Amino acid sequence: MPSHPLNQAPLPIGRTNPDYDWDQLVHEDRVHRVVYTAPDIFEAEMTNIFGGVWVYLAHESQIPRNDDYVTVRLGLRPLIVLRDSSGKYRALYNRCTHRGATLCREASGSAKVFQCAYHGWTFMNTGELRGVPWPEGYASDLRNSCFNLAQVPRVESYRGFIFGTLNPDAPALADYLGPVREPIDEWLDRHPGSRVVVRDANRLKFHGNWKLAYDNSADGYHVKFSHRSLLEMENRFKADNEKGMSFYKDHPDDAPMYVRYFGNGHHFKDKRPNVEKRPGALWEIEGLAPGMEFFEEEIRKRLGENAPRALDLASSEPVNINVFPNLLILGNHIQVIEPVSVTETNTTWYATAVVDEDGDLGETVDLINAFRMRTQEGFPAFGEVDDATNFEEIQRGLAAPEDEWVYMHRGLGIPGRFTTGADGSITGPATDEVFMRETFKEWKRLMANPPAIEIRREV
Ligand code: FES
Ligand SMILES: [Fe+2]
Repeated sequence: MPSHPLNQAPLPIGRTNPDYDWDQLVHEDRVHRVVYTAPDIFEAEMTNIFGGVWVYLAHESQIPRNDDYVTVRLGLRPLIVLRDSSGKYRALYNRCTHRGATLCREASGSAKVFQCAYHGWTFMNTGELRGVPWPEGYASDLRNSCFNLAQVPRVESYRGFIFGTLNPDAPALADYLGPVREPIDEWLDRHPGSRVVVRDANRLKFHGNWKLAYDNSADGYHVKFSHRSLLEMENRFKADNEKGMSFYKDHPDDAPMYVRYFGNGHHFKDKRPNVEKRPGALWEIEGLAPGMEFFEEEIRKRLGENAPRALDLASSEPVNINVFPNLLILGNHIQVIEPVSVTETNTTWYATAVVDEDGDLGETVDLINAFRMRTQEGFPAFGEVDDATNFEEIQRGLAAPEDEWVYMHRGLGIPGRFTTGADGSITGPATDEVFMRETFKEWKRLMANPPAIEIRREV
C-alpha cells in the first residue's frame, strides 16, 4: 500500500508575540488605549492569556450524566465539554480533523458519537476517530492519532466548576485559584448540600473589548452613577431606601464593604459586611420585584420559623467573585465572559438553583427557585444594560488615537488606604481601582511571557 507521511515534526503552536514594549503600555496608574483596540494584542491574548492560564469552561451540573455535552469556547477555540461514556470530563476541540468544520452545532445534548455534517467523519466522545465514509479511498492509516480530535490536555474541577488549560506549565487548578477559593466556598456553602446547579442563561453581546467587562467586575466607583435608574427602581415603593444596592447611595467608601485583590488576576467585591448576620436580613434588602409578595407569603406559610432562611436563599448574595480571566460569580449568577473579537464580547449569565439536599425544604424548593429566577432576572435586565452601554461607549471613546491613556489610579498613593493580608491579598475601600491595577500587572506579566501551549490527540 502506498504510504502517506504522517506525524512529521509538528509546526510550533501559537504565533509570534507582537513586538510591543509592555512596560510602555501598562503603567502603575494607567494603561494605553491599544490594549483595548489593537487586533494583534487581542490575537496574542487568545494564546498568552486564554492559552496560558486556567480558563472556566462549564459547570458539572450542565453535564450531569455520561455522554452529556455543552459547546463553549476557550478564547476563540470552539470546544465540546463533555463527560465521555466512562464518565471522564474532557474538553474536545469542536473542529473536525478533516477540513476543520465544527463538529457539534448544538448548545448542549447527549451523544456517544459525533458525526461531521460536511463529509460524515465520525468521532467517539473520547475524541477518537471512529470511521470515515468509503475508507478504501484513503491510502493512509486512519488509526493514526493525528486524525483524532484535538483536546485540551488538562481539565480539572473545583467544587463543580470545570476549568481547562493548554499550558503544561500552569500550576494545579487549586493553586491557580489560591485564596479566591475561600469566597467561592462561602458562596456555595450557604446553600443546602453546599452546592447549586446551573440553569439556563441570559445571553448578551456588547461591542467592546472583553477586558472592559473584567475591569468593571469589582468596580464600586460606578454603581451610584451608572445604575441610578436601577437603584431608584429597587427602592421605588419604600420610604427607607434600603433595598438592593442602596449601600452605594451615600459615600460607599464609608460603608463596611471592601474590594480585595487575591493574586493571579482574581478579585472580590464583598458587600456582605453591609448586611446584618441573621436569618432574613438578606431578604429584607432584596430589591423589589413583581410578584414577590406571593412568594414571601407562601414560603412563610409553609415553613413558619424557618422561612427567613429560605427567603435568604432566594435573595441575591451581595458578592462579586472574579476569577481571571472569564468567570464572574455575582449575586446568585455565574457570568462568563467570552471574547469574540477585539471589539466584541459575549457575556452569558447562568442562573443557579438550589437543590433540596437535606430534604428539609420539600416542595418549597420549587418556590424558592421560582423566586430566585425572578431575582436573577433583575440585574441582567436592568443593570447589565447600564454596564454594557458604558463598555460600548468606552470602546467608542478609545477610537481617538492621540488621546492615549486610560487611568486607574483611584486610591494610589494615599497612605493607609490598603491592608495586605498574610496570603498577599490587598484590601481597600469599595470604590478603589487597586484590583484593576493589580490585574493589569498580571496581564502584562502573561503577555510578556508566552506559554508553550499544547494540545493532545491521544485519547
Ligand atoms: S470537514 Fe468534517 S468530514 Fe470533512
Ligand atoms: Fe455595574
